[in-house]
Amino acid sequence: MFATMGALGLAPSAEAATKTPFQPPQPSDFRLRGRAAAKVLVLGGGVAGLTVAYELGKAGYDCTVLEARDRVGGRNLTMRGGDRLEEIGGAAQRARFSDGQYMNMGPARIAQWMTTMDYCRELGVPLEVFANSNAEALIYNESSGMTAPVKWRTAKADVYGYISELLAKATDQGALDRRLTETDKERLLSFLSSFGAIGPKSSGYAYTGTDRRGYRVDPGAGDQAGTVLGPPPSLSEVLASGVGRSFSFELGYSQAMLMFQPVGGMDAIPRALAKAVGPGRIKTGAEVTKITNLAEGVEVHYVKNGKTHLAKADYAVAALPPNILAKIPHNLGAGVQAALEYPTVVSAGKLGIEYTRRWWELEENIYGGITNTDLDTSVIWYPSYGYGTERGVLLAYYNSGRDAQTYDPLTHAQRLERALQAGAKIHGPKFRRDIAASLSIAWRRQPHLEGAWVSWPARGAEYRLLNRPQGNVYFCGDWLSYEIAWQHGAFESARKVVTELHQRVLKS
Ligand code: FAD
Ligand code: ALA
Repeated sequence: MFATMGALGLAPSAEAATKTPFQPPQPSDFRLRGRAAAKVLVLGGGVAGLTVAYELGKAGYDCTVLEARDRVGGRNLTMRGGDRLEEIGGAAQRARFSDGQYMNMGPARIAQWMTTMDYCRELGVPLEVFANSNAEALIYNESSGMTAPVKWRTAKADVYGYISELLAKATDQGALDRRLTETDKERLLSFLSSFGAIGPKSSGYAYTGTDRRGYRVDPGAGDQAGTVLGPPPSLSEVLASGVGRSFSFELGYSQAMLMFQPVGGMDAIPRALAKAVGPGRIKTGAEVTKITNLAEGVEVHYVKNGKTHLAKADYAVAALPPNILAKIPHNLGAGVQAALEYPTVVSAGKLGIEYTRRWWELEENIYGGITNTDLDTSVIWYPSYGYGTERGVLLAYYNSGRDAQTYDPLTHAQRLERALQAGAKIHGPKFRRDIAASLSIAWRRQPHLEGAWVSWPARGAEYRLLNRPQGNVYFCGDWLSYEIAWQHGAFESARKVVTELHQRVLKS
């Protein structure tokens, strides 16, 4: 039947990617076997920890989540007016965004294939489109000598046009004859003609620019045909500008032109998870200070309101970043300690500005999407919500790695000044006007996280070791997946741990 459905186009093809199947634990698993659900301490109330408690809770496990920060979500952090943002070794900031405005400090976009989408559906988190790529947004490569930004659409028209011209010429002149049959050549030339909007053979397949580049005067009514932007820069100038470097971004499997975001802020996900887990099962402001694996069960020390508490359970799931775990005393052995210290911590930072007028829409026709630069600010993100309204929070930078390290040690005022200088190179003086509020984050300096994400120099013995339980302690988080820096990785890691722990409990 499946094959017939496939032939009719009603079943996914064999080529469609699939995720590891997941069957949540169920109360009936215990009823049938006459066993009891175990008691589990979940250390860390980020997406991974909350998911562990949520999924185990479905089968009646007695879970308690210990979260050091004053709210759940971990790196899934959305800031709104009135929220306070602490920074290690720096002044706390107060978000002064107006009602309805928000800033996703960490995760902000979700690809359609990710498990994150499934949890949004299951938990009733409403989604809307996140514009990850926008032909009206800009590219600005200062180090290539560009003196003004160029629209994505213009850059694409020119790069595709010239590449098509070159390839068509080479094909026509026989340079590819060893690779192409006569029919291949015809088909390739036909493709290049539409892909690059190049001229006919008689013109030497010349790219001379088309309305794809955009208009100086937009088409209108009557005899207003519009004035096309042009002529295009030379091939050499287009290559020198380096604009083509930006195009591969949306080809990455985790990125796409069209992505999604929860309506009103990414923290709708941990909020919904926490509600489903039950607030009585979550202790915030509870910092784990010691993890002890016992022959039977586990002991976890934690500090809440200045007092040390001892919690006992059958199992613990440590859903903390490895760099943080590495600082918590445990009795899991030197191999575990070395493995926890092995991944490299990566910095990332963001700065959001609330403007009282959406000048990017009013004056530049940019409705969502991302401007790419080679400045240390890396990108400018235009909000994918509230189109056509009065205010909006724009990301003046979102950088990582070395660029972020430049911003990590700065005060908020210093970060803002750098961001304004960079933004003004692209959007002019209006980038400095109509500012209502601003907020920045340096993930390296976030209490209890101290990093944006980690990278494994190699996924070797250390990765495999921590992907296995150590006695009665399991590890969990995006860092134990192949999608680090994505909630998908946290969800998948949580499902893996839940599955393994449940199988063990059923067998015990
Ligand atoms: P965490 O969120 O790190 O959770 C760990 C928890 O442990 C935290 O709540 C922490 O406070 C707590 N904790 C630490 N120490 C202790 C202690 N001693 N005791 C108790 N609790 C403790 N993902 C996407 O899907 N889309 C994106 O667009 C995206 N962009 C990102 C951009 C940035 C800048 C960053 C930083 C991340 C981004 N991510 C994105 C990745 C996503 O945020 C993570 O993959 C995910 O949130 C990780 O969840 P986690 O539960 O594994 O870890
Ligand atoms: N997953 C992170 C992002 O898309 C790195 O920004």
